[in-house]
Amino acid sequence: MRNIDQHTITDAVLQSIAATPDARLRQVLASLVKHLHDFAREVALTEAEWQAGIDFLTATGQKCSDTRQEFILLSDTLGVSMLTIALNQARPAGAGATEATVFGPFHTADAPHVEQGADIARGAPGLPMFVHAVVRGPDGEPVADAEVDVWQADDDGLYDVQRPELGDARRARAVLHTDAQGAVRFRSVVPTAYPIPVDGPVGAMLRATGRHPWRPAHLHFMIRAAGYQPLTTHIFRDGDAYLDSDVVFGVRSSLVGDYVEHPPGTAPDGAIVDTAFFTLDQPFVLARAD
Ligand code: BEZ
Ligand code: FE
Repeated sequence: MRNIDQHTITDAVLQSIAATPDARLRQVLASLVKHLHDFAREVALTEAEWQAGIDFLTATGQKCSDTRQEFILLSDTLGVSMLTIALNQARPAGAGATEATVFGPFHTADAPHVEQGADIARGAPGLPMFVHAVVRGPDGEPVADAEVDVWQADDDGLYDVQRPELGDARRARAVLHTDAQGAVRFRSVVPTAYPIPVDGPVGAMLRATGRHPWRPAHLHFMIRAAGYQPLTTHIFRDGDAYLDSDVVFGVRSSLVGDYVEHPPGTAPDGAIVDTAFFTLDQPFVLARAD
């Protein structure tokens, strides 16, 4: 294998991995090599551009920490996360099961487990919101004892983990379990749109390409129940200005919820609220595990 040029190098690399014992790894790596080489040939990649790419990926890795995953942010903003979800979790609107969307970087494993009706905001700023969500299976059967993990940004567009002053305190997130009717009820604050973190290489990429960093307001849900496929999704706030330009391409029409605004008065849980407040009645349908 000598005197390799731009025309023969791809076959040379493919031959070098042809004996990879794991068939799937062989297939994925071979395809990656072909596409990478074709990309370099197509754009006639210069050495300076190659170095800039290496520097960008290096900076992306260096930005990662226990609380920051810049590679996932890169995948999200380049559409690879939603593409992978679309390839693996096709649940067309109208076919029954609630559609999935991106997981995002702000879930934590230590959200408080709370009882029905709890105020999960725990002091997070924002107008009150009363959520009633019902989890069903494909035949309309209520799914009892499903674990419903919910998390969201507050009225400042911040998750608790983005507020160093809170330390490890958790707010505007919780884990609940559905009752015999498949329902969970909780109080929180209405979510607002927010920009994804832009102080790293992904932010530089967005600025260089003239893109805004905003996500439309949404509530995150992760729902798990025995016998059903897990669901990771959002319920977006209707009317949000960014529904058609989500920086991570995560909006699906079926996931836009009906957040109803009410004047001050009596909330669904009987509380007297002296500001405007919102209610959200949201059904979810899980696909069966088999
Ligand atoms: C989120 O919704 O929390 C999120 C998703 C993708 C990238 C950044 C944030
Ligand atoms: Fe989010």
